[in-house]
Amino acid sequence: DKPRDLAGVRLLVTAGRNAEPIDPVRYVTNRSTGKMGYAIVEAALRRGALVTLVTGPSELAPPSGATTVQVQTGLEMYEAVMARVEEQDVIIGAAAVADYRPKLRHEQKLKKKEGNLLIEFERNPDILLEVGQRKRDDQLLVGFAAETENVLENARGKLMRKGADLFVANDVSQSGAGFGTDTNIVTLVDREAEIALPLLSKLEVADRILDHVLNMRTRRSSR
Ligand code: PMT
Repeated sequence: DKPRDLAGVRLLVTAGRNAEPIDPVRYVTNRSTGKMGYAIVEAALRRGALVTLVTGPSELAPPSGATTVQVQTGLEMYEAVMARVEEQDVIIGAAAVADYRPKLRHEQKLKKKEGNLLIEFERNPDILLEVGQRKRDDQLLVGFAAETENVLENARGKLMRKGADLFVANDVSQSGAGFGTDTNIVTLVDREAEIALPLLSKLEVADRILDHVLNMRTRRSSR
């Protein structure tokens, strides 16, 4: 059994995808199932953390023992995180947040017409970036980077740009890694080092991330 080495640590995790409505019956989304984020919640609960899960639509059962906030859109996820960020020690963004939303949400179902349909999108806020800007010295921020090329460079770029302490670089083009699988292949990228992990279950990946977070907290408090 894992020790309860995260007892009392307040942790917020985002998980899953967003659904960005076009009209009452259609939406734009992505392939995230929530498995990675929910695995972090499960691992953290076992280790005694006080966990808040902000989740987009997912087929997974809400974990018992966590405070779960269900959202649909990127804007709702943004609001839910921002309302709770101050009371957290650690924030982990595992969600595949929608970067864009349809500019118009049609009140009525769009009717089929001759010719092509053009939908204009506008940007959603970047949750991680904003958390990084407001972050206190005693808080730790962890992001995920789902990439298909230049995985480590892109992850390091996001780490620096978003003011995070750790990024989990996820090469989603490898089999057994990324969206929908029960396993993942990641590299932990922090300000000092890169730690490549082998193929592991998402629960094991979750524990490795939490081990690293705990290490960073210990190092920081002894400074
Ligand atoms: O849910 P699963 O099916 O298990 O799949 C897991 C996963 C592949 C979704 C997960 O492991 C993962 O990589 N999640 C991050 C996916 C992603 O959107 O990466 P990104 O490189 O686009 O975003 C970088 C970081 O910024 C992420 O921490 C993301 O949560 C955050 N972000 C992105 C956009 C935005 N508007 N706001 C954000 O906070």
